Amino acid sequence: MSDRASMKVAVLMGGSSSEREVSLKSGAQVAAALRRLGHEVMVIDPAANGLNALSDFNPDAVFIALHGRFGEDGCIQGALEMMGLRYTGSSVLSSAIAMDKTISKALFDMSGIPTPPYVVVSRRHDPRSALELALGVGIPCVVKPSSQGSTVGISIVKESSALEEALKIALDHDEEALVEKFIQGTEVTVGVVGKRDPQALPVLEIVPKNEFYDWESKYTPGMSEHIIPARISEAAQEECQRLALRAHAALKCRGYSRVDMIVEPEGRVWVLEVNTLPGLTEVSLLPDAARAEGIAFDELIEILLNTALED
Ligand SMILES: Nc1ncnc2c1ncn2[C@@H]1O[C@H](COP(=O)(O)OP(=O)(O)O)[C@@H](O)[C@H]1O
Ligand SMILES: [Mg+2]
Repeated sequence: MSDRASMKVAVLMGGSSSEREVSLKSGAQVAAALRRLGHEVMVIDPAANGLNALSDFNPDAVFIALHGRFGEDGCIQGALEMMGLRYTGSSVLSSAIAMDKTISKALFDMSGIPTPPYVVVSRRHDPRSALELALGVGIPCVVKPSSQGSTVGISIVKESSALEEALKIALDHDEEALVEKFIQGTEVTVGVVGKRDPQALPVLEIVPKNEFYDWESKYTPGMSEHIIPARISEAAQEECQRLALRAHAALKCRGYSRVDMIVEPEGRVWVLEVNTLPGLTEVSLLPDAARAEGIAFDELIEILLNTALED
């Protein structure tokens, strides 16, 4: 074992975002795994404890098990940079980019990564021109806030009469909304793991019991099914893995991420978004895909912890 074998690790979990409850679960399981691996662990909830406990503990590495706003969007990463602490996963810049679907899609376009056609509608538009702009994408479409996660404020619009309400809901959550072409197909997600030489994990197919992969399907046991490998052709699986690595690189992600995609029946792949802090409970998507690759949960957590360290 290397001298890295036992470290002082702070696990950040909870936080104040809409994904607080999920983060508490991720954090508890990450902390348990780190303890089994022999590390000295302190769990800190920034919303409850602030960050003073963190500077007192003075860890060798910070494992970020937060999700959503302030955890996933670069804010906590910036605070840690200023405190001179090493942390797992992506940088301030990359976290902020990935959290913003509009900026992410612009970078996908620039990098030749296929992402569904879209327009951006802002609160500054007057409602009539916003509606006209949105109608340009065509029906059905998907309306989402630019910078939320976990399917908060998302609507699938099947009739033009429902578009106005969908825009209102999305713009209640964010100043900008994305109106995206609805893609009919198999929903998949691909984990990317590794700092110097990132590798794509097996393609995981998500089968939600609800109409789409909404909040309930994501977080209620039994409300979605994971199928590995996804029931798509081998060529499509390879394409998903290739695009996952390209999307990870295009957004300058570091250490790990999980890339959401939809695959059309004839094999065409569209990238929806990159998650820089995907769920890390033992039944979450990334750990499930890692297991299919022969990487057990604890081993995965050790790999992710090491992304905080120098190469
Ligand atoms: N363009 C689209 N076509 C079809 N379904 C979509 C599309 N965009 C989103 N969805 C559905 O909505 C879910 C959430 O969308 P996503 O862009 O991944 O945002 P987030 O996971 O951050 O809420 C997806 O997992 C998928 O089920
Ligand atoms: Mg998603």
